[in-house]
Amino acid sequence: MGRTGAHPGIALGSLSVWPMTTFDLAALRRFVDTFADRLHERKDELTALDSAIGDADHGINMDRGFTAVRGKVAELDDGTDLGTAAKTIGMTLISTVGGASGPLYGTFFLRLATSLGERSEADAEALGVALRAGLEGVAQRGKAVLDDKTMIDAMSPAIDAYDGAASDGMAAALNAAAEAAATGRDRITPLVARKGRASYLGERSANHQDPGATSTTVMFESLRDAVDG
Ligand SMILES: Nc1ncnc2c1ncn2[C@@H]1O[C@H](COP(=O)(O)OP(=O)(O)OP(=O)(O)O)[C@@H](O)[C@H]1O
Ligand SMILES: [Mg+2]
Repeated sequence: MGRTGAHPGIALGSLSVWPMTTFDLAALRRFVDTFADRLHERKDELTALDSAIGDADHGINMDRGFTAVRGKVAELDDGTDLGTAAKTIGMTLISTVGGASGPLYGTFFLRLATSLGERSEADAEALGVALRAGLEGVAQRGKAVLDDKTMIDAMSPAIDAYDGAASDGMAAALNAAAEAAATGRDRITPLVARKGRASYLGERSANHQDPGATSTTVMFESLRDAVDG
């Protein structure tokens, strides 16, 4: 993120023009560090959620993946464009995380990469377009729809909320996205899973918090906090 403009806000009569926030390689690195730290701290919690309705590996998977991602992103040259950096994240996840979540999160970042392309900075609109491309990739790859009780149920409302708040700037949009992800995560807890390992449990999957929707919420919270400083 770079805040261009010396003032926190410039009042123009009744109109307040807030400085533009942009997403750049430094922001992406802050996001990766924040998300990797939080996944590491919450590894046992994520794995416990997955032990109730899966195979008890989600925290381990995500921690392994983002530990590798952190190393790869740290090695990138400072002039690396956002597309190349996001592609590095996606490829690293696909090669280091097995199961459902590796290919799904990997696809999310690969689609982000294609959308961001050679940009060195993305404004609020470009980041929103890229996030939606990521969501569409996850939906295509996993074939989950809303209410199947997956990460889609956190990701999809997060990106809708982002779009709804994007005219207020990137920080506001990411804040709305993080809140909507958490709401989505909690909304599906009573539901019966219809995708992934949890679906094998049928009715017994009800009333358990979904691990993937939980890690996706941590992802949006990390993105918000990385951009917000
Ligand atoms: N088809 C899908 N589409 C979107 N998300 C999915 C899908 N299947 C599972 N998920 C998400 O992945 C999470 C589980 O991730 P995890 O890392 O534990 O993989 P896994 O299910 O153990 O993989 P595998 O069954 O191949 O070992 C679920 O909580 C759910 O949110
Ligand atoms: Mg699992």
